[in-house]
Amino acid sequence: MADADPYAGAAPGWAADAALVYRPLAAALVRRHPGPLAGRVVLDAGAGTGLAGDELARAGARPLAVDLSADMLRWRRAERPPAVAGDVTRLPLADRCVDAAVAAFVLNHLPNPRAGLRELARVTRPGGAVLAAVYANVASNGPRDAVDAAAVRAGFEPPAWYQELRTAWAPRTGTPEALAGLARAAGLLVLDAVDVAVDVGVRTAEDLVRYRFGQAQYSAWLSAMPAERAARVRADAVAAARPVMAPYRPRVVHLVARAVG
Ligand SMILES: C[S@@+](CC[C@H](N)C(=O)[O-])C[C@H]1O[C@@H](n2cnc3c(N)ncnc32)[C@H](O)[C@@H]1O
Repeated sequence: MADADPYAGAAPGWAADAALVYRPLAAALVRRHPGPLAGRVVLDAGAGTGLAGDELARAGARPLAVDLSADMLRWRRAERPPAVAGDVTRLPLADRCVDAAVAAFVLNHLPNPRAGLRELARVTRPGGAVLAAVYANVASNGPRDAVDAAAVRAGFEPPAWYQELRTAWAPRTGTPEALAGLARAAGLLVLDAVDVAVDVGVRTAEDLVRYRFGQAQYSAWLSAMPAERAARVRADAVAAARPVMAPYRPRVVHLVARAVG
């Protein structure tokens, strides 16, 4: 990842709009935890605005957030669980200090995902669960692609960090075999690795566009343009997605593993 924080300024759009998809995705991942979460200290690695942490807290756990982006961690700071800025490949945490770890859509951001998994294994007490979600390597999704194409027609050029993530980094983790292999190489005991389509409850083109344009790769571009133009870009994207809209079910890979110490 480049030195500049690609998520700087992205938190409001993430929390209000991208969360339409990322909150149900976080809930689906947290539900994979084997056994009760009540009272457990659980690392939310790559926490962003804290969606997985919210789900963990709902299940009675005590989340601890780490993210490279201090700006994402500042979102609703006063209401959030403890958080520390840091890199998931060099966690600022002691060995075996958490009962479990959750990594929602962060391993796919890493040039070296095995290093991230090794750190999750290091900080999790032996026997504790390590859960991860990444996007599956799927070539296309009709409605989402229609939104992206509308953005390109409106002049959007994907930032370099996002291009690199999509083409070089994310594909390394996007199959159950790849993610499980990386987890084993990091010293984890793999319990399950599956490719699943998650119904996130997004049914309308309007909500799909809100989610998509709430993501960091779009937020700087949209917020730099006059409000009237941004509204037009959104309306055009909705019109492009509507004819192909179907319930949005992104394919993700879930990893359920155990730290063995
Ligand atoms: C796609 S967002 C996911 C946020 C959150 N987990 C969720 O599901 O809503 C990716 C997050 O990972 C963070 N991130 C990227 N690289 C990271 C790294 N090396 N260490 C820690 N966090 C990282 C970003 O700052 C961003 O907040």
